[in-house]
Amino acid sequence: MIADLAAFVAANTRLQPVPHAPEISLWLADEVTPIWRLTEEELGEMGLPPPFWAFAWAGGQALARYLLDHPQEVAGKRVLDFAAGSGLVGVAAMKAGAASALCADIDPFCGAAVAANAAANRVALAFTADDLLDGPPPEVDVICAGDVCYERPMAERVLDWLARAKANGTRVLIGDPGRAYFPREGLTFLSEYRVPTTRELEDLEIKRSAVWAL
Ligand SMILES: C[S@@+](CC[C@H](N)C(=O)[O-])C[C@H]1O[C@@H](n2cnc3c(N)ncnc32)[C@H](O)[C@@H]1O
Repeated sequence: MIADLAAFVAANTRLQPVPHAPEISLWLADEVTPIWRLTEEELGEMGLPPPFWAFAWAGGQALARYLLDHPQEVAGKRVLDFAAGSGLVGVAAMKAGAASALCADIDPFCGAAVAANAAANRVALAFTADDLLDGPPPEVDVICAGDVCYERPMAERVLDWLARAKANGTRVLIGDPGRAYFPREGLTFLSEYRVPTTRELEDLEIKRSAVWAL
């Protein structure tokens, strides 16, 4: 077990501007393999998911850009950044004037990453590691989900849960770079971006990524 997750985040990332939302700087890794291997070594487990929290994923970058450019979507509102990773979308929501932002992610490193990124951007972010998909969607005004359709079981589970939130009157915004399990049907297109990313993670250096409302 890693005793000090905050120290692990600081030691294996560097503070850098987000390519498509340079108003925001995050503690990010440059290469995926070393930090992934180190995570597995430190935790003594193999086959762990990648260190999602150490990268600004294309779908999250698009959604962050959208919120920064359309602050009326979140200004004065309670926002959930679901599957937050680094907390990028939560940071963008707070910079756009949200009343509060709760970041949710089940990865054990995310709490430390979100705290570091909140401090770096001088915003307040709450965090939960609970799997919110196990219960009813929380009472917030807006749920943001950046890049959540990369695996079929997760995508199906998330989209079903987001549909329940929408039925309760919550505004649901999704950022997606055309992942295999992103449905498009039943969604309203809002904006598209050409998001710089890295060949460490993606097949292209620029990923066309869009923001949709459920
Ligand atoms: C591709 S990353 C996107 C991170 C961030 N939203 C972004 O765009 O940079 C997907 C994230 O989903 C998280 N995740 C997977 N299952 C989850 C669940 N049931 N609840 C919350 N987060 C989950 C992973 O831990 C990971 O951080």
